[in-house]
Amino acid sequence: MIRVMNNQDNLTIRQIIDNNADEIPQKDLEYCLIDCLKKNRSFVKFNPTYILNNKELIDLKKLIFELRSGKPLSYVLGYHPFYKHEFYVDKNVLIPRNETEIIIDEILKAGDLWFKKYNKLTLIDLGSGSGCIGLSLAIERPHWNIVLIDKFLSTVDILEKNIKKFSLSNAHILISDWLSAVISNSVDIIIANPPYVEYDSAELDETVKMHEPHTALFSEDHGCGDLKKIIKEAKYKLRKGGILMMENGFDQSEKVKKYLVENDYKDINILLDYNKIQRFTKSKV
Ligand SMILES: C[S@@+](CC[C@H](N)C(=O)[O-])C[C@H]1O[C@@H](n2cnc3c(N)ncnc32)[C@H](O)[C@@H]1O
Repeated sequence: MIRVMNNQDNLTIRQIIDNNADEIPQKDLEYCLIDCLKKNRSFVKFNPTYILNNKELIDLKKLIFELRSGKPLSYVLGYHPFYKHEFYVDKNVLIPRNETEIIIDEILKAGDLWFKKYNKLTLIDLGSGSGCIGLSLAIERPHWNIVLIDKFLSTVDILEKNIKKFSLSNAHILISDWLSAVISNSVDIIIANPPYVEYDSAELDETVKMHEPHTALFSEDHGCGDLKKIIKEAKYKLRKGGILMMENGFDQSEKVKKYLVENDYKDINILLDYNKIQRFTKSKV
């Protein structure tokens, strides 16, 4: 039962947080209040006696209803922060993860060197989902050509919304099964965060399993199936000296490295995430 019904009781921010404290974390409610009140975090924190108007209560009621159903906050709000911006998300795309942000700065450095040498750069965000990786790069480097590839048409609405939000003319969507629709020797950098969770993994959070798209999470061959497909395909699509950067699961780094070696990639570097887990592999063809 939702306790926020209308404003006849002159409900304040404090009362709403208290009334829902048994089921909804205060932080999540604060984000919903920020969204419905169109105010910033400090307003919500430091004005506990603020009385919500009718519209604010109705909007909040909808969000609380969804949160109570167990839906993740980012899907309830419809956006999630990543790197320097907020990206639209919905149930068709993975909620961007903090640890993925690390590769943005790595790719900016590598891409700048490439651009300095060749004066042009084509980069593919492979398995783009919301487009958080490719679009963060497109915003930072308007002179780079960014291609966002996903297999699923269901991601296109969100990708288009995000491209429009940042008024980007250097980002383009391509629906393709990995690199099958890409011409050989045409790409300078490929950055991929593919599905890499093993089916039946005990590590995966139940909320993630219940709400996020399984096509973005799970892969065969102990989670390595898609990583291997990408390694195999990317070497023909990258130009000589081109870079492949991939994210992988917490225990997959050595397998990925081995597979890269078997496929003749060079300069293989394993990079750590914020928790010092071997999370990314950067290599060259
Ligand atoms: C782990 S999610 C990554 C989403 C986003 N890049 C991010 O970092 O938040 C993997 C993405 O790969 C896409 N995908 C899965 N299989 C694919 C395939 N065969 N070809 C292209 N994309 C695929 C999924 O739809 C999903 O958007």
